[in-house]
Amino acid sequence: MFHGMLEEVLAGLRKNPKSLPSKYFYDRRGFKLFEEICELDEYYLTRAELAIMEVHGSEMAKAVGEQSLLIELGIGTGEKTRLLLSHLSAPVGYVPIDVSQDMLNDLADSLGREFRNLVVIPVCADWMGNFELPMVWDSAVKRVVYFPGSTIGNVDRLELVNFLRKIRELCGRGGGFLVGMDLKKDRATLEAAYNDSRGITAEFNLNILHHINKALNADFNLDNFRHYAPYNEEDRRIEMVLISTCDQEVHIGKETIRLDDGEPILTEISCKYDLREIGEMARGLFQIKNIWTDVDKRFSVQYLVAV
Ligand code: AVJ
Repeated sequence: MFHGMLEEVLAGLRKNPKSLPSKYFYDRRGFKLFEEICELDEYYLTRAELAIMEVHGSEMAKAVGEQSLLIELGIGTGEKTRLLLSHLSAPVGYVPIDVSQDMLNDLADSLGREFRNLVVIPVCADWMGNFELPMVWDSAVKRVVYFPGSTIGNVDRLELVNFLRKIRELCGRGGGFLVGMDLKKDRATLEAAYNDSRGITAEFNLNILHHINKALNADFNLDNFRHYAPYNEEDRRIEMVLISTCDQEVHIGKETIRLDDGEPILTEISCKYDLREIGEMARGLFQIKNIWTDVDKRFSVQYLVAV
């Protein structure tokens, strides 16, 4: 269990409307379901980003530069990281930051086998919160924060400038931010991506309750919730929600949570961006150096230099 999970989960469920931190999707099963999502016809994000990386990987490596320390926020399937690492010349180290110690260990093992000379330093922490890096990489020419997968979409727009400020602090002047983000597009395409016909995303969404049941000995009945993921046009984001399908009570720790029939629990937001939006939000912190997109302009990877 991640330190503080009980308090965070309860805090979210005491709110009105109720919410849960999306990082708790990702136990082992959640990671597997997410991997399945990435393969879905409707979920274009992963394929679009990989296509961008395949075409522009060496330009990205050039932007990252030699002897950089690469810091990755959250670990995904590792595929994009491998692609980037294979292009990089002599990085001084790779620091994956994630809340899941298990996943970090798995990743460190497999990367260590694949990239023999790479120093992997896993850090178990919540990149959304405040964390500190052990200070051992003074030999790095610069630090580059890598944030692929449109995970930045999980950050509330109102928090984005604050978040960018933290990244700016983490990488220091001259450092970089290599970020992948999903772009704004028509509602039908977006909603299909989060409401796939095979119901994998629904399973993924419900898995957050399964994870909480296991980790906190809670008693969510997964049959009493249904997946719902509409595009909120005004806030330009997908909202992943679990809807209670009856009046019910759930027990977590010493607490009883009441849910009404039809009551939503917000489990994730996935913000969609305009091509120039990040650059504008980052004014005074970062300067855009590169903007890459796929041919259909569905997704974008950008390199920002800390000023
Ligand atoms: C991993 C946060 C980028 O928002 O698209 C996939 C997670 N949620 N389907 C996203 C997710 C539902 C994904 N991110």
